[in-house]
Amino acid sequence: MIPSQRHLFDIPDEIAYFNCAYMGPLLKTARAAGHAGIDRKSLPWNVSPVDFFTESEKARSLFATLVGASADDIAIISSASYGIATAAKNIPLSRGLKILLLEDQFPSNVYSWMELARASGGEIVTIPTPADYDWTSAVLKAIDDKVAIAALPHNLWTDGALLDLVAIGEKLKVQGAKLVLDVTQSLGAMPLDLARVKPDFLIAAAYKWLLGPYSVGFMYVAPEHHGGEPLEYNWLNRKGSENFAGLVDYVDEYQPGARRFDMGERANFALMPVAVTALEQILAWGVANIQETLTHKTQDIAARCAGLGLTSLPDDKRAGHFLGLRRDGGLPKDLLDRLKAENIHVSVRGSSMRITPHLFNNEADSDRLLTALENIL
Ligand SMILES: Cc1ncc(COP(=O)(O)O)c(C=O)c1O
Repeated sequence: MIPSQRHLFDIPDEIAYFNCAYMGPLLKTARAAGHAGIDRKSLPWNVSPVDFFTESEKARSLFATLVGASADDIAIISSASYGIATAAKNIPLSRGLKILLLEDQFPSNVYSWMELARASGGEIVTIPTPADYDWTSAVLKAIDDKVAIAALPHNLWTDGALLDLVAIGEKLKVQGAKLVLDVTQSLGAMPLDLARVKPDFLIAAAYKWLLGPYSVGFMYVAPEHHGGEPLEYNWLNRKGSENFAGLVDYVDEYQPGARRFDMGERANFALMPVAVTALEQILAWGVANIQETLTHKTQDIAARCAGLGLTSLPDDKRAGHFLGLRRDGGLPKDLLDRLKAENIHVSVRGSSMRITPHLFNNEADSDRLLTALENIL
């Protein structure tokens, strides 16, 4: 268990922020790194061609360590939708074949698949929410020989319902189907066994559980897809781009591995140092330790909320960092505003109140949340 890390964040005592699934706050060190990056851009005579690579390569390596891959497998992208669009461009779909999605999945992992299905005569199959929230069984049941692609999260973004990606990955492999993961709502807070899940593409925006900047994300690309087509054709990911004097000697070749999928202008001088600092801290804490600590926090809140008629998914059906609370008859319409008036920040997604803590949350935050809920409900 990791003790409160609130001192590393700039969160005033009176703020109870339980909304990492909306946006993770920056560490103080990451904010300082971003400020230094802005300063560097103000003095461009200090920026040399090698600086277009150094920080990006550092971020790439750190993300690779986080997911258990090699830096060659990682592309730097701008958003989850950018990564999903890249995956959709690189997985052929034949007429009549199916793409599996979950009901109420986040739209960044839906729209590109709709386009692919439309363009190729394929079919989107949306798995409805199972009554018992056993998504793993529902997905396994839906995988047949017509499924070509499953585009899934590790846990749902609404209530944290969990999928067993190892079991799902294994069945997809047997069928010869591809697995594309949007792990924006889990990576950095919940371990994922890449070697066993074997996704084709794995994508995460950095601004939530990676405690990173907005407009930066990362994509793992399995080696068999390294020869694929990037979404855009920028110069920085071409072979030899380190030599700025030779850029008009246009080449067909790319930088090695998944670097060909990098977004244009990925060497963002303000944002990349922020991502690097955050990834370093997450690795230092350890993702398994983060998950254990956050699981403890959400279990405690869930147990205390049960007396208020608020129910959550059973522990084995939800991600430990994610708590979705529902109530018979629904939640009061003004719930969010009333909590906000007391400096307590949560979200409502669908029918559930989403409570997503991080290591900065302390006992006082939980106490204030509970007292406020007792008064409102
Ligand atoms: C599951 C999931 N994926 C992705 C995103 C963000 O997508 P994008 O980076 O395309 O804006 C969110 C934001 O809430 C999300 O919940």
